[in-house]
Order: sequence, then C-alpha cells, then structure tokens
Amino acid sequence: MNKQQILRNRPVGVPDEKTWELIETEIPEVGDGEMLIRNKFISMDPAMRGWINDARSYIPPVKLDDVMRAGAVGEVMESKNDKFKKGDFVFGMGGVQQYKLTDGKGFYKVDPSMAPLETYTGTIGMPGMTAYFGLLDVGELKEGDVVLVSGAAGAVGSVVGQIAKIKNCTVIGIAGGPQKCNYIKKELGFDHAIDYKNENVRRKIHEYCPDGIDVYFDNVGGDILDHALTALKKKARVVICGAISQYNSTDGMKGPSNYMSLLVNGAKMEGFVIFHFADRYSEALQALGRWVAEGKIKTEETVIEGIENFRDTFLKLFSGDKRGKLVLKV
Ligand SMILES: NC(=O)c1ccc[n+]([C@@H]2O[C@H](COP(=O)([O-])OP(=O)(O)OC[C@H]3O[C@@H](n4cnc5c(N)ncnc54)[C@H](OP(=O)(O)O)[C@@H]3O)[C@@H](O)[C@H]2O)c1
Repeated sequence: MNKQQILRNRPVGVPDEKTWELIETEIPEVGDGEMLIRNKFISMDPAMRGWINDARSYIPPVKLDDVMRAGAVGEVMESKNDKFKKGDFVFGMGGVQQYKLTDGKGFYKVDPSMAPLETYTGTIGMPGMTAYFGLLDVGELKEGDVVLVSGAAGAVGSVVGQIAKIKNCTVIGIAGGPQKCNYIKKELGFDHAIDYKNENVRRKIHEYCPDGIDVYFDNVGGDILDHALTALKKKARVVICGAISQYNSTDGMKGPSNYMSLLVNGAKMEGFVIFHFADRYSEALQALGRWVAEGKIKTEETVIEGIENFRDTFLKLFSGDKRGKLVLKV
C-alpha cells in the first residue's frame, strides 16, 4: 500500500490537524513510458506553505484532495521509461507519499556514491541552487563584499554564507538562538552572527557593518528586512528570496517601511524564484558538488522519520526546531 498525505483543507494561519489527512491507497500499476518510484526522503520546504493557499503564484496551488506537493529523492522500483531503469535514484516532485508513479518529466538522476541521498534535497539540490543563483546572479556578488543573510542556519542561508566566504566576503548571519549563532560562526566560518531572538538586530547590524552592507540576502522578511534596509551601502543589492516570518500571517504580509533607503543609496531590491534558472541547474549543481567534495561547504540535514509525522515536521520550519535542511524520511 501507498501512504499519502492528502490536502483536505486550506489553513488560515498555521496548518492544523484538519489541513492534511494520511490515507492508504493501492500502489499503482506502471504503464508504458512510466516508472514507479519509492520515495525515501521528502524535502521539507517553507514554500509548501504558499502552495496550499488558494492564490495566484509562480505555480498553481495544490488542489484540495490531491497528494501534498513536495520534492523527494527516491529509488526507481520498476520502469517502462527509456530514460530511467530499476535501481536508479532520482529527485523530482514525488509528493508527500511513499510511492510516486510518473512519466519522468522533471525528474533527474542523483548519485548516492557522491553524497548521502538526503543531501540532494539540500545543499546539492534546490536550496543550494537557490543560494547559488540568488547570491551570485541576483545579488551580483563581488569579492570582498559585506554580505548579510537571514535564516542563516537554514538550508538556503547556510549555503549563502559559505559561498560568500569562498568569495572572500565578510559574512554576517542572522539566526534564532545562541546555538545556531555559534554553529554558523564556529562550524560554517561566518564572521559574525546576530541572534534575532535575543539581540537588538538593528544595533548589531550597524555594529558589525559600520560601513554598511553590499548584499542583503533576505529569507525572512518582516522587521528584519526593515532593519537591514537601514544599513545599505551605495549600490547595495537586496535579494528577496523568501519571507518566512510572514507565511502564516492571518492579516496579510507586512511590507518594508524603510524602502526609501533604496532611493537614497541607488540600491536595488530584486526577487527571484529558483525555477527562473532552470536552464542553468547543472552549472550550480557542479559547483556545489565540487565545493562540498573539497570541504569548502559543509552540509547538514535534520532528518525526521515517518510519513505520519509530516505536519509536526513541517511546523519545525517555522519554530526553527532544526538545523540545516529539514527532511522527512518515509
Ligand atoms: N526564491 C526561491 O526560489 C526560494 C527557494 C527556496 C527557499 N526559498 C525561501 O528561502 C527561505 C529559507 O528557506 P529554507 O528552505 O532555507 O528554510 P530553512 O531556513 O531551512 O528553515 C526555515 C528557518 O526560518 C527561520 N524562521 C522561521 N520563522 C522565522 C521568523 N519569524 N523570523 C526569522 N526567522 C524565522 C527558522 O530558523 P531560526 O531558528 O533561525 O529562526 C527556520 O529554521 C524561505 O523563506 C523560503 O521560502 C525561496
């Protein structure tokens, strides 16, 4: 049987126990051109919160009564598709379920001898590529820049900071709690860390960036974005990658009020979605794979087991009760 998490209700605010239902269905038969994948690791991404809103976005919302959408790494169990064979390991939109039947579109092979399978949901996967293109292309990173990144101990932010260090930048990370701050400084090599739960963020940004910021990579939005805007250098770049502090808001998203700093400093603020860079994924994956192999980028995943624990695991993205990439083993 195939255990699946089905979207039953669209939540207002934080998803509750009525949002998803765990069901069991028959494992489907494989038709011509198709393959059956046994999902191993489900990628837990903040974007999943946006996908269950009934709102226009960069992809259509998950329909009610459909399997919850998610990226997943799995093993091909049976294949009638020329491009994949039994025993291949693949990444694609496998969904929050144990088995995925697909024609293979959007799936690509991953190599378990190069890295643990779960790493393909993180640093050598979508979050790593998001850091790569967001920082280097959208953020137009230059050697020696002063880079501030929020969500700094997370899947995207931890890679942003480490790429910026490879490029000889000064890196300041913002994260929740002393342990995460210690981790990004001691283990990931960031120059400074700001604990947004216990410190005055605006004061600390100005203390660590006395001449201002060249690149602010924003994963969280809200007040932290506003504080960062007060410290921009001339021609700074503000990269809008995400706004996790706002995703469960019940009274609309709070936008930045300090945006006139963009005018004063001739700075720019630009958003992006990783899918905009789809034709260059292999470039990013090669660079990230090389940096990981050379020990220049450290990877970390928090792995929780059991498809029945999907909602509790998902909520850890918002409580911050995890480090690095959050993954559900199914
Ligand atoms: N544009 C794109 O294509 C794209 C692609 C991937 C991800 N993203 C976005 O990038 C951001 C990071 O994603 P990720 O996968 O790397 O997630 P993540 O950082 O691994 O996990 C989310 C982290 O956000 C922090 N957080 C939660 N609520 C917060 C709040 N109210 N204020 C400040 N920090 C808060 C928590 O860390 P603390 O313990 O530090 O609070 C939590 O661990 C998200 O906004 C996501 O939507 C965008």
